[in-house]
Amino acid sequence: MKRVAVFASGNGSNFESIVHASKLEENYEIVLLFSDQPEAYALQRAHNLGIHSVSLSPSHYPDKTAYEADVLALLIRNRVDSIVLAGYMRLIGPTILKHFEKQIINIHPSLLPDFPGLNAIEQSLEAGVTETGVTIHYVDEGIDTGPVILQEKVSIDPQDTHGTLKEKIQQVEHRLYPQVLKQLYRKDEVVAETSIN
Ligand code: GRF
Repeated sequence: MKRVAVFASGNGSNFESIVHASKLEENYEIVLLFSDQPEAYALQRAHNLGIHSVSLSPSHYPDKTAYEADVLALLIRNRVDSIVLAGYMRLIGPTILKHFEKQIINIHPSLLPDFPGLNAIEQSLEAGVTETGVTIHYVDEGIDTGPVILQEKVSIDPQDTHGTLKEKIQQVEHRLYPQVLKQLYRKDEVVAETSIN
């Protein structure tokens, strides 16, 4: 059974959908919710779902290396095998990356390589494109640059606002992330370089 930690900085709706789906799975379990934001609603969700949660504030550390050393110690203490980023708004640095090589995945609300980084939904609306989507990818040292695992398109209709588009994207995310985790962990393939679709 793979021991998986979810990292979230805010609302945590993806975290919650992953926890619900994981209850039906035999190959992985969610053992920890980690947040860099002590006020994140994801922490409340973890409490309600009975998932162990920890938050550590980067502002209490002299630098990123010291911060990540503590996060890494937490992950090792909890015997975490694999990390799922779900709305974690911080770049993963070399301390954690080295230890979890090819064992960290992320979800992003665009069809990467389009609209990486912050405010991807706003970026797509401003660009005036008629199609965007969701990307699940391996994490490397860049901003949303790691190898793509799976993408799904979402259409942008003329009447879409930020709110309606976000809702459409999140509906896809809540289905797609559990689906990808099921396939990756079933095949024990988080280490694989190849796409699963
Ligand atoms: C999601 O849209 C995800 O793609 C992005 O951040 C958002 C997190 O939403 N990385 P939530 O906290 O899971 O509700």
